[in-house]
Order: sequence, then structure tokens, then C-alpha cells
Amino acid sequence: MPATDPLSVTEALHARRSVRAFTDTPVDPALLSDIFAAAQRAPSGGNLQPWQATVVTGDRWAAVKDAVGARIAMGRDGYEPEYDIYPKGLTEPWEARRFGVGEALYGALGIPRDDKAGRIAQFVENYRGFGAPVMLFLHCSRIMGPPQWSDMGMWLQSVMLLLVEAGLASCPQECWAMYGKTVRAALGLEEGQILFTGLAIGYADKDAAVNRWQVPRAGLEEVIDWQGF
Ligand SMILES: Cc1cc2nc3c(=O)[nH]c(=O)nc-3n(C[C@H](O)[C@H](O)[C@H](O)COP(=O)(O)O)c2cc1C
Repeated sequence: MPATDPLSVTEALHARRSVRAFTDTPVDPALLSDIFAAAQRAPSGGNLQPWQATVVTGDRWAAVKDAVGARIAMGRDGYEPEYDIYPKGLTEPWEARRFGVGEALYGALGIPRDDKAGRIAQFVENYRGFGAPVMLFLHCSRIMGPPQWSDMGMWLQSVMLLLVEAGLASCPQECWAMYGKTVRAALGLEEGQILFTGLAIGYADKDAAVNRWQVPRAGLEEVIDWQGF
């Protein structure tokens, strides 16, 4: 944990962002272990603690990248999605938010709309974990439903905030679920497990343009309905 005063929860919330360029500095597994131990305090309905994670580095991480790389080379035939990442026929206001973050990302990188190859190349960086030395794959039993998936999200955010407190950075990556079967096979996970997301973990490359922009959020008037105040 950091030598300086730890960040407040509010500071950590503001400091966290999805980092898409990492240095190759290795991550101390003891530090990760402390973070996972603290994240165990995340709440879950009925205290089920449905989250399960497989954390890889080195050869094991390279094996996942190689296996998924072979599927990517197959084009659309290589897809084996675990679930629909977005609802089919996404409507407003959600579609505008999804479109907006993509445009802002490519804008930060100076990749114009008509540079399809450039955009695909940036998307494929996902499957290198943006250079992160550690990848965490978050999965759970297939018997779990929406309430338990929300529990996984609470655990994930807990881990991400603790990483920030420790001076580390991360990027959640549900894109790995597009190749769920291959990821599960490379990790040795049984069929009864479903892959929710990856989480790239490492030290942020602070000079990278892709890390120097902040994604806006909707105003409170769009999300909070105050009643009886
Ligand atoms: C579960 C989950 C999965 C995500 N998957 C991806 C992904 O596959 N690739 C990516 O670049 N960003 C991914 N993101 C990052 C979102 O785009 C990002 O959280 C959102 O735009 C807000 O930006 P911020 O995290 O920097 O605040 C994911 C985020 C979450 C919570």
C-alpha cells in the first residue's frame, strides 16, 4: 500500500479511469493479494460472493493472447460471445453515450472516422490488454443471474479503486467475452463457468495520449429522481 496518505474514497473515484496504455513494469503479486483480500469486503446479496477470478501474467497471459489472436484471425467466424455485450437495438440515451465514448477515444488518438483500419487496429489493442503485464479474468458460475452479476460489478469496482489507491491502473474489458470459449479453454476453466470481463492491470503509461482524456458522465437530473424531499 502507498507510503503517502491513502486517497479518500471520493479521491479514488475521481482518479480512476480506464487506462489503455501500460508500462511493462511488473506488478508485485503480494500487492495484488492485499487488494483482493480487501475487495472480499464487497457486499453481495445473501453474501453469495459469486465472483471468481483467474489472474495471469507471463507465459500464462501470453497463452491467452495467442489463443484469442488465432480466433481473431478467423474474422467473424471466430466470434464465440458469452453474452450480448449491449442490448440488441440499443436506444437513447444509451446509444449516444456508447457512440460518444468511442468517438472521444478515437479523437484523442487522432484516428478519423474514415480510417477504418486505424480504428480496427486500436480495437485489437484490447486483445493485448493494452500492454498490461497482468490480466484478471472475472467469471462466475453459469447458474448465477442478474443480481449476482451486479455483485460481480461491485467486486470489480472495489478492486479498481484499491488498485488506484496502490498507484496501479486498470481497464475493464468485456471484449474478452467475444471469445469466451477460447479464453475459458486457455485458462482451464470448466464449462459451468461464464466469463464476464477481463481487467487489464498494471502501471499507467502517463505519457500516452490515450490516457489523457476523461469520459464525461450524465448529469444527476438524468439519473436521480428525488421524491419527498
Ligand atoms: C464491465 C466493463 C467492461 C468494459 N469493457 C471495455 C472493453 O472491452 N474495452 C475498453 O476499451 N473499455 C471497456 N470498458 C471501459 C468503458 O468504456 C469505460 O468504463 C467508460 O467509457 C467510462 O470511462 P472511464 O472508465 O475511463 O471512467 C469497460 C467497462 C466496464 C465497466
